[in-house]
Amino acid sequence: MKFEIKDRDAAGRICKFTTKHGTINTPTLLPVINPNKMLITPKEMKNLFGVEIVITNSYIIFKDKKLRKIALEKGVHKLIDFNGPIMTDSGTFQSYVYGDIKIDPIEIVEFQRDIGSDIGTILDVFSTPNQKKSEVEQIVKETVKRAKKSVDVKGDMALACTVQGSIYPDVRQICAKQLSKLDSDFFPIGGVVPLMENQRYTDLVRCIIYSKKGLDPSKPVHLFGAGHPLIFPLAVALGCDFFDSSAYVKYANDDRFLFPWGTEKLDNLIELPCSCPICSKYTKTELLKMDKNVKTIEIAKHNLYITFMELKKIRNAIAQGNLWELVERRANSNPYLLEALKELRKKENKEFLEQFEPTSKKKALFYTGCQTIHRPEVYRIQKRLLERYNESYDTTIVFPDGTKPYSVYYSDKINRIFKRNCKLNILIDSHLGPVPLELDEMYPFAQSIFPDVTDKETEEFVTKIFDDFIKNKNMICWTGSATLNEFQPNQEECKDFDIMRISAISDMQFGKGAGKAILNGKIRIVKSKKTSKIRNIYCNEKHVLSMRAEDGMFTLKLDGAKLLHKYFKYPKLRVVVDDDVSAFIKEGKSVFSKFVKDCDPEIRPFDECLIVNESDVLIAVGRCLLNRIEMLSFSYGMAVKTRDAVG
Ligand code: GUN
Ligand code: ZN
Repeated sequence: MKFEIKDRDAAGRICKFTTKHGTINTPTLLPVINPNKMLITPKEMKNLFGVEIVITNSYIIFKDKKLRKIALEKGVHKLIDFNGPIMTDSGTFQSYVYGDIKIDPIEIVEFQRDIGSDIGTILDVFSTPNQKKSEVEQIVKETVKRAKKSVDVKGDMALACTVQGSIYPDVRQICAKQLSKLDSDFFPIGGVVPLMENQRYTDLVRCIIYSKKGLDPSKPVHLFGAGHPLIFPLAVALGCDFFDSSAYVKYANDDRFLFPWGTEKLDNLIELPCSCPICSKYTKTELLKMDKNVKTIEIAKHNLYITFMELKKIRNAIAQGNLWELVERRANSNPYLLEALKELRKKENKEFLEQFEPTSKKKALFYTGCQTIHRPEVYRIQKRLLERYNESYDTTIVFPDGTKPYSVYYSDKINRIFKRNCKLNILIDSHLGPVPLELDEMYPFAQSIFPDVTDKETEEFVTKIFDDFIKNKNMICWTGSATLNEFQPNQEECKDFDIMRISAISDMQFGKGAGKAILNGKIRIVKSKKTSKIRNIYCNEKHVLSMRAEDGMFTLKLDGAKLLHKYFKYPKLRVVVDDDVSAFIKEGKSVFSKFVKDCDPEIRPFDECLIVNESDVLIAVGRCLLNRIEMLSFSYGMAVKTRDAVG
């Protein structure tokens, strides 16, 4: 069982998951196959929608003599005629829906193993939202006990250990932590169907976050029973890799069409608002005239087309770095979901999510509404401003927001300040909060698009951030050219603005003091002939930094890395690799998680890092794909892409 991260955004990820029957790309959905009634066969699903893995129920197979015999003799893959990966569930849900059912928790795991399931599930105990905490704690205790016993009999089947804990965050986290200590391969989050049925998305968000907090980050996470595409973007952004559902057929059964924005009943539509092959082929009237069974199959196919289209959209959003935007746009189509996003405004949740958030994106940050300002990346940049940014002078002049980059928009006024050698910090009061002029080309300050007027909540929040930033500072506002009159032209020249810029970005990106460490010598700056933006920076004729045009942040060169390595104490900016592989890294090979011994806890996905051996000798520089806790838990896949090695 191999699980590795290929790309990521928010706390979501694109992974490859390898099973005995092939490799799956996540995030994805496992359609539920009822072995008694396959309206659409798994093979057909693979051909039509690109389904890579399905889920069926071992309890249904077990209790039916005929199915059980075939499954035991020929295997579950023959039984449902599918040669791709198959996951099986255990009967927990049946037990919840139909009351007590006779089933032995170990026997059902052994049965799943014996019929050749790729991923089998323990017989967890379903916890419901209205149970008392003490009751839920008992359920979790029993579930963990069963998981422990199940691990011993799993054989070469991957075992899914379900996290229970109802709506109690601490119980969820404890359950997740205890299950993560076992030799478990896969973690479904269970007991959430009643929350989804009642659109209790705030509780759902809490369940996911607290389960994730307790889980081993290197294992796949599945949201059990989630099949409505409406919640996929948010669930993925919080770190879910798998969904499963019979929703496509259940909804089809009463003429309901799934859409990314919700559900539409056939009767209420005047025409079909979709161009999938089904909706292109039939009109509403034609569908209504169909034989019930045929109609259900056709609507189920529409439902699967939409489901897999939304998953493609999500994977694209991860690759492009705009998953939060998709989450917010979907939330804007459902008030319950919109309400649930408010849960992400809590500081503890921002802090949790920030650890997984990439430090730079390929696309600009788009404002979609009052939630945008609460994104983890915005939280991070505002926090770093307070912790890492240093003013050059005693007094700060404030300009209102304008078009970007601000140094171009305000160039006339800024030049006047520079000409008079006014010792002033220049600050923009932007929609993202305070932006020192030195940082006006850095992500996300330059790469963000806000309307001229946002919304009251955002305005109030940003005002607070701005006020925090200027607290105890000497401020003046630009009110016209007369503002400068009180500043006598100064004889002594101001600091070089390019140097100030390089220094400030270095501090924000690498840590306080990085600018001083890198710019300690004779500096030569090479600018682009076309855009006149900074491109390469040399210190004593050694190439230390390159500026990326896309995000206004630096690529660290080996000579720059040497300076930072000398300046920052261990473990700052370091990824420590096993001495056994340092020779490979020196050849320029990338660092695999398996060989990471330790790492700076402040490193974030896509950060530049110093690759060192176990004695803290610098051997290369690279760009991280993972954060510390991930590097230390993953056994497969890349942790750092090496760029330059000492050779
Ligand atoms: N299907 C939907 N919810 C659950 C759950 O909590 N546990 C299991 N095993 N299956 C489910
Ligand atoms: Zn359609």
